[in-house]
Amino acid sequence: MQIKKGSTRIVILLGNYAYKFTRIRLLRTAVWALYRLAFRDQRELFRSKFGKNIFVGLCKHLFIGVQQNRTEYAYYQETRDCRVMPTHRILFGGILIIQTRGVAINRKTLIQNCPFEDTITGNPDLDLHQAKQYCLCQDGKVRAVDYGKRNTVVALRKTLETPKTRPLE
Ligand SMILES: Nc1ncnc2c1ncn2[C@@H]1O[C@H](COP(=O)(O)OP(=O)(O)OP(=O)(O)O)[C@@H](O)[C@H]1O
Ligand SMILES: [Mg+2]
Repeated sequence: MQIKKGSTRIVILLGNYAYKFTRIRLLRTAVWALYRLAFRDQRELFRSKFGKNIFVGLCKHLFIGVQQNRTEYAYYQETRDCRVMPTHRILFGGILIIQTRGVAINRKTLIQNCPFEDTITGNPDLDLHQAKQYCLCQDGKVRAVDYGKRNTVVALRKTLETPKTRPLE
């Protein structure tokens, strides 16, 4: 068994599966909130991202791992995108998801086998620019394991291959 720590999830690698648990980020949220409240431009940024209600904003930040788990599950179940690691199950409303376990890769392997175009990997906001966000899947493909951000799945959807339409007879 191996345990990996991300900023929003704790991942337990066991057998053929990765069990991704939400982290509850109390300290990080407290520091984050103080920083946001101290500076006017940061307050504006906060409002544009989370709306006017600071309590809702704090809860979203605190449980952002739940949202990322839900997004990964929903995206994979809907699209079956073969560029991302399959997410099979969601439990406890998103506190836990179960993904196929992959093998970590280095930057060189990623560059040689990256499933995405530069428009995706070149955008640091999408979380798909580092080797740690990918793994080698059991089918031999390099796939993204960290695709839970909302803007990430928006970008992935835009680059999904559209099914070929049947030629007219
Ligand atoms: N399906 C998987 N198979 C193997 N390892 C995985 C899998 N999913 C995640 N990991 C490992 O766990 C680490 C953390 O997972 P993940 O990136 O999904 O969490 P995160 O909280 O979003 O991390 P980050 O802070 O990088 O955004 C990954 O960098 C990777 O090493
Ligand atoms: Mg992440």
